[in-house]
Amino acid sequence: MKICVLGLGHIGLPTALLLAAHGSNVVGVDVKKSVVDCLNQGKLPFKEPGIEDLYLRAKDRFTAKSSPGNADVFLIAVPTPLDPTTKISNLSYVRRAAGMIADHIKEGDLVILESTVPPGTSERVVIPVLEKSGVAIRDFLYAHCPERAIPGRTVQEMIYNNRIIGGYDRDSTDQAISLYQTFVRGEIYTTETRTAEFVKLMENTCRDVNVALANEFAKLAEECGVNVWEAITLANKHPRVSILNPGPGVGGHCIAIDPWFLTENSTRCRMVSTAREVNDSMPNYVLYLTRNLLHGIKNPVISIFGVAYKGNIGDTRESPALKFIQLAENEGYAIRCHDPYVKDFPHPLMDAADAAAGSDCVVVLADHDCFQKTDPADLQVRTKFVIDTRNILDHERWIRQGFAVRVLGDGSQVPPIALEEDIPLAGLYSTDVTRPIATPPSVPLFTPGGRGRFL
Ligand SMILES: NC(=O)c1ccc[n+]([C@@H]2O[C@H](COP(=O)([O-])OP(=O)(O)OC[C@H]3O[C@@H](n4cnc5c(N)ncnc54)[C@H](O)[C@@H]3O)[C@@H](O)[C@H]2O)c1
Repeated sequence: MKICVLGLGHIGLPTALLLAAHGSNVVGVDVKKSVVDCLNQGKLPFKEPGIEDLYLRAKDRFTAKSSPGNADVFLIAVPTPLDPTTKISNLSYVRRAAGMIADHIKEGDLVILESTVPPGTSERVVIPVLEKSGVAIRDFLYAHCPERAIPGRTVQEMIYNNRIIGGYDRDSTDQAISLYQTFVRGEIYTTETRTAEFVKLMENTCRDVNVALANEFAKLAEECGVNVWEAITLANKHPRVSILNPGPGVGGHCIAIDPWFLTENSTRCRMVSTAREVNDSMPNYVLYLTRNLLHGIKNPVISIFGVAYKGNIGDTRESPALKFIQLAENEGYAIRCHDPYVKDFPHPLMDAADAAAGSDCVVVLADHDCFQKTDPADLQVRTKFVIDTRNILDHERWIRQGFAVRVLGDGSQVPPIALEEDIPLAGLYSTDVTRPIATPPSVPLFTPGGRGRFL
């Protein structure tokens, strides 16, 4: 069987290599010449655990090209970005890929769309472009098979995750099952095309909404004088409760984007877009915490530890760090960034000591495991403030070194100054809606270098 995979990125390349490693002849197509050249020189365009071994097993049955030719199966794994202004999916890459296939498709061929798309895209966009070839949908096979793999474990998850196959008809479903069964060891579940599109978006939306709920709990806990991390641990002892962790926002190629694909045409849905707003506003909230700490410090310098969108990976796509940096710079803070995993970032990256030198506040944004071992004694900061948005640091160690530690969502650190200053705690606000609600005090009462905690 000859397979043509369009898009040799984080999803398309491992998929193409897995198919080749399991016996298919695969032509990988990418419109980026650098990607094609790189692969034809025997190199890989990006790093991912397991992909080098996979490449060695696949290379005899894999070639990279800039345009497709005849094949029995065409698999589309091109980007589906979000337009940042309109928050609407950009389907131009998918349209173009379908157009490239239309030049070669013949009766009996199978076309698979793996790219994440809004519900209905296969029927309304992809199939009509393919039919411009003159071959009607009744004469070729079509399925949407969304990808669930996560960066950092892509190869392993492509093999062991359960898969959804949304076939246009029974024959399409059966052919797609045969293809994926060559390398998938998870269960394969089948449905029709539009449901498969919807399921993929629901999965990531579910995670986004649950993170938003955790972030709301973090802010509420601060208002109520409670440590949200302890509270979540205890709440999760309930057999039917599973609260996620709060943090500085949601990033990555999927969770921060896919909910918009689900709601882009909706006139009824509210909660999904509200969750997006909650998560998108978390960098503002972290800046609010930072601003409160640095109040009164002249020419403040912030050291950011971790610019990746999550721990132990080097991916900065949609990372909350990007927004946090832009907001902080607009307020006049100098920014110094450290991330041992990230190679390419719009802001210069330094090692931990350089990033912290002369800094007024270390802000931890990504939960890289290595940060747990950071020795604060090695950091020659100007002011000993640290904000841990992931609750990952060894706080006692930082406190022993004289740092004032502020943990996102730990309201037990915030003093009951609200009462002293006649600001009611959460839940105690006046029911008189005409009475203005006081804003929280901007200057926290704590002694840096003292107990290292809010007093
Ligand atoms: N990366 C993930 O973790 C992940 C997980 C699940 C789903 N997805 C979805 O998979 C799809 C692909 O994502 P990705 O992360 O692999 O993207 P990517 O940006 O890493 O790679 C896409 C590649 O497609 C190429 N391309 C663009 N147009 C093309 C065309 N017409 N023909 C051939 N090549 C073309 C680009 O040059 C690029 O190399 C997206 O819809 C994404 O939402 C990604």
